[in-house]
Amino acid sequence: MPFCDGEFTKQTDETGKVFLVTGANAGIGKETVLEIAKRGGTVFMACRNMEKAKQAREEIITATNNPNVFVRQLDLSSMDSIRQFAENFKKERDTLHVLINNAGVMGLPRTLTKDGFEMQMGVNHMGHFLLTHLLLDVLKKSAPSRIVNVSSALHEQGTINVDDLNSEKSYSRFGAYNQSKLANVLFTRELAKRLEGTGVTVNALHPGAVDTDLVDSWPSAMKFLLKPAVWMFFKTPKSGAQTSLYAALDPDLEKVTGQYFSDCKPKEVSAAAKDEKTAKFLWAESQKWTGIKE
Ligand SMILES: NC(=O)c1ccc[n+]([C@@H]2O[C@H](COP(=O)([O-])OP(=O)(O)OC[C@H]3O[C@@H](n4cnc5c(N)ncnc54)[C@H](OP(=O)(O)O)[C@@H]3O)[C@@H](O)[C@H]2O)c1
Repeated sequence: MPFCDGEFTKQTDETGKVFLVTGANAGIGKETVLEIAKRGGTVFMACRNMEKAKQAREEIITATNNPNVFVRQLDLSSMDSIRQFAENFKKERDTLHVLINNAGVMGLPRTLTKDGFEMQMGVNHMGHFLLTHLLLDVLKKSAPSRIVNVSSALHEQGTINVDDLNSEKSYSRFGAYNQSKLANVLFTRELAKRLEGTGVTVNALHPGAVDTDLVDSWPSAMKFLLKPAVWMFFKTPKSGAQTSLYAALDPDLEKVTGQYFSDCKPKEVSAAAKDEKTAKFLWAESQKWTGIKE
């Protein structure tokens, strides 16, 4: 298994390859796009806030001189938006080499997506589950191709609440986040099995603790308490993007699938993330919720 010591330093040429990054207008996603664009890739930034996305695109094109960076509207809290996005993307492009499911929300008070899903499970897992399925045909046609799911070390604190997946009976801001990040890993491992022999790989990762806007919706007192830890221990967004870049670009990972990475190297997942019964339960529920048949 190849290593890169927390920084992806291998030189690669991404000219001619098509990438799609969700939540690409800020934080880890934006830095991921910047580096791929530097390496010549064509990148679609799939974003909810289009103003922020256009601004980020301009900055990236100016910094890289790569005009092949595009923004497209995607709201992962709406299945209509996800379906519309995928339909438009496939009209525009018939290749996709790397899908990076990066967008995420954390620690929100209980809110619902347009389709009635608890927001963190809805955006972080269900939205990406649906998006990935709608793009699988084009990923398969473009093989060798990759799916990269940005999870978190907090998946280790997560449990899949089989009796209350949508947090209707009780809700905890961080319990729901941890559940959604565990769902990212369970989805990755189950999908890897189902994609065997297709040339499409799927891996998950922890980007590190990174100083981004992810904590924007936290109560002010909690953000205040977190500040010293952020100053002392948190990675910059550029540093936080390294494991995504490693998973997306390292040529040695072309056939590696169903793995979880942290600091640009493989890492064990929690026992709950290896539970095949839970993975199958989550898969079946995700199909039901999103209306995906296979
Ligand atoms: N930062 C960390 O310490 C850390 C640690 C472990 C894992 N992660 C994971 O890393 C990923 C990136 O997070 P980040 O730290 O870079 O946070 P961030 O700066 O807040 O970026 C999150 C991105 O997700 C987008 N997003 C949120 N809701 C969306 C929706 N409904 N539809 C489409 N896009 C949506 C945001 O877009 P808008 O501008 O429209 O809100 C933003 O571009 C997340 O999956 C997060 O769980 C982060």
